[in-house]
Amino acid sequence: MIRIAVLYGGMSTEHSISCISADSVMAHMPSEYEVFPIGITQDGVWVEGVTNPAEDAELPVVKQGREVALSLNPQRRGMLYDVATGETLTTVDAVFPVLHGKYGEDGTVQGLLELAGVPYVGPGVLASACGMDKEYTKKLVAAAGIPITREVILDGARELTDSEREYLGLPVFVKPANGGSSIGVSKVTSWDALDAAVQLALESDGKVIVEAELFGDEVEVGVLERPDGTIAASVPAKLNGTEDSAEGFYGFETKYLEHDVTATIPAPYSEELVAKLQEMAVTCFKALDCKSLARVDFFVTADGPVLNEVNTMPGFTAISMYPQVWAASGLDYPELLDTLIRTALR
Ligand SMILES: Nc1ncnc2c1ncn2[C@@H]1O[C@H](COP(=O)(O)OP(=O)(O)O)[C@@H](O)[C@H]1O
Ligand SMILES: [Mg+2]
Repeated sequence: MIRIAVLYGGMSTEHSISCISADSVMAHMPSEYEVFPIGITQDGVWVEGVTNPAEDAELPVVKQGREVALSLNPQRRGMLYDVATGETLTTVDAVFPVLHGKYGEDGTVQGLLELAGVPYVGPGVLASACGMDKEYTKKLVAAAGIPITREVILDGARELTDSEREYLGLPVFVKPANGGSSIGVSKVTSWDALDAAVQLALESDGKVIVEAELFGDEVEVGVLERPDGTIAASVPAKLNGTEDSAEGFYGFETKYLEHDVTATIPAPYSEELVAKLQEMAVTCFKALDCKSLARVDFFVTADGPVLNEVNTMPGFTAISMYPQVWAASGLDYPELLDTLIRTALR
């Protein structure tokens, strides 16, 4: 029996989404894997978890419980113990950090797992850190020849200059550089509304990105590393109805609460465009030095696909795109998990 610790929750703004993702991961785990769930509370305590952390709550949270720790001693690789008594609870073969956002998807947990010598699902420290930070994601993919939109980085409390406003043009999207699940993201259609949007983004991160609007279909492609080291791209998903939502884009409410957005999978594109999106997704994956998996999101504009962002631990909820694009590519959810774990163990 192979034992897998599933980490969920965490100290990021995406705590609840992580709980829902992990719930779904555990529900689809193939029977040859034994799961040891570990919840991370919003203040960062690791506790013995449950296999159904989403319960019935729309936005679940990890509750206090028996505190557990992973041994950082590589000679005790994968050992999990009760912090209060020191009792060993189990020893795991790999960790699946189903964590989104800061302190989970940004290289910090990955660094801890490296130190502990435990194999894990998902990209390593560098790719996770760069993929989390939208400024660095775009620097790296642009260097690999991938088109990105016009942007200005607001580091600290400064305002856009007149020439920056002219360069960007309205509307703009304002977002935390390190964020996810659309939390803190606003569409700004008048410069009067910019300040409030920047303030909102600053609640999530000290660095804010202001981007020119991208027009066209919002498309997501899954990338997956197989156990033999080859990299595969899924069929693309095209999101429908994001612009008609109350938020006017694929915002948090639209994503998780309103359930109005549907996806066409595979996206109804020519073979040529599909191949181009897949090739670009793999280029982005490699540009960030990703391993294991990533979801690469584009806008298909009149001038061709433009990168929006790379997610190194994409959503795994029942309605999330990553498992769905793989199912449409011939790999169902349990097979996807099996591939991810076997790649991690290799
Ligand atoms: N430059 C842009 N042009 C058009 N829509 C955008 C742009 N940037 C973000 N959006 C919209 O906002 C959503 C969330 O932004 P995104 O960059 O994906 O952040 P997150 O990491 O929170 O998902 C996107 O799915 C898209 O609907
Ligand atoms: Mg996104």
